[in-house]
Amino acid sequence: MSKIKIPDPAGLYFAHLSDPHLTTLRGVRLCQLLNKRVLGYLSWRYKRRKEHRVEVLDALLRDLAQTHPEHIVVTGDLTHIGLPAEFQQARQWLDRLGSADRVTVIPGNHDAYIGTSWRSTFAQWEPYMVSDDNAGKAQKPVFPSLRIRNGVALIGLSSAAPSAPFFATGSLGSAQREKLSLLLQQTGEQGLFRIVLLHHPPRVQDEKWRKRLTDGDDLCDILGRAGAELVLHGHSHRPMESGIPWGERTIPVFGIPSASAIGHKPGRRAQYYLYKVLRETDCWSVRVSIRGYQMGSRDFALQHEHQLSVPVISSTSS
Ligand SMILES: [Fe+2]
Ligand SMILES: [Fe+2]
Repeated sequence: MSKIKIPDPAGLYFAHLSDPHLTTLRGVRLCQLLNKRVLGYLSWRYKRRKEHRVEVLDALLRDLAQTHPEHIVVTGDLTHIGLPAEFQQARQWLDRLGSADRVTVIPGNHDAYIGTSWRSTFAQWEPYMVSDDNAGKAQKPVFPSLRIRNGVALIGLSSAAPSAPFFATGSLGSAQREKLSLLLQQTGEQGLFRIVLLHHPPRVQDEKWRKRLTDGDDLCDILGRAGAELVLHGHSHRPMESGIPWGERTIPVFGIPSASAIGHKPGRRAQYYLYKVLRETDCWSVRVSIRGYQMGSRDFALQHEHQLSVPVISSTSS
C-alpha cells in the first residue's frame, strides 16, 4: 500500500445506514423462486413489505439532502431475495443516493440469498463496492475493500453467503480474514482512523445462533490483535452498542435498525447515524447523531447525540 499523507485537519462527516430492503417483488414469476427464494418471497408477501416502506426511504433521502454528509456507508441487505432484477432496482436507488466515490456499499445475507452468478447480481454494484485502487476496474475478490477519505479508512467486509432455509448466517472465510488482518496493520501504521464495515454483528453472542456470523470469534481475535477505531454493522434491525477488547482499549461497535422500517415492533423503527470524526491533538473526537423516522411528521429528526473520544494509535500499541 502506498504511503498516505494524513491531511490536517483529518476527519470525515459520514452517514451510516443499513438494511434498506428497498426492492419490490411485485411481478416476480414462480419460476424465479427456486429453493430458499420461495420462503423469502412468502416472507416478503405476507410480512416484510408491510414493514419496509418506500415512503420511509423517500423521507430518508430528503433528510440526507438536508444533513448532507460527505460520505454514506450502506451495510447490506438492499434486496429481499437477491434476484438480478432486485440488484437493478438497488443500483438505481444507489445512483439516487450519491455517486460511487461518495457511497460505500457492502452486501448482506439477503443479497446473497442463494448462489447466483456475480455478473447478473453484484457486478451491478461494483462501482459502489470496489477499493479506491480498483475504481473503474472489475477486480475480484472485491473484499476486503479499502477506501480512504481524509485520513479515515473505510474497510468493507463481505459476510454475505448463502445459508440453509430458515438460517441467516454469514461468514467471512479465512482468505478475507487474512487480508483484513494485513489491512488493519497497514492502515494502523499509517495513523488512519480505521472503520470496519460488515453486515452481521461481529460478536457471536449479540445475535441469534441461526443468524450469527459463523467466524465472528475469529474476526474478534483479529480486531483484538490489530485494532480498529470503530466497527459498524446492520443485520439485526435494531440499535445495538457493544465493544471488542483491544489491549487495554475497547473498540466501539454500533449496529442500526433498517433504514426503511416503519416500526411495527418496538425499537425497530428506521434510523440512520451521522458520524463526525475529527482528529484532535491526541485523540479522534467522534460525534454520533442518531436520526430517526417520526410517524407524526413522516420525516426524520434528531433523536439523540453523543460524543466519543478515541485515542490515537501509538507506536507501542499492538
Ligand atoms: Fe436485513
Ligand atoms: Fe441481514
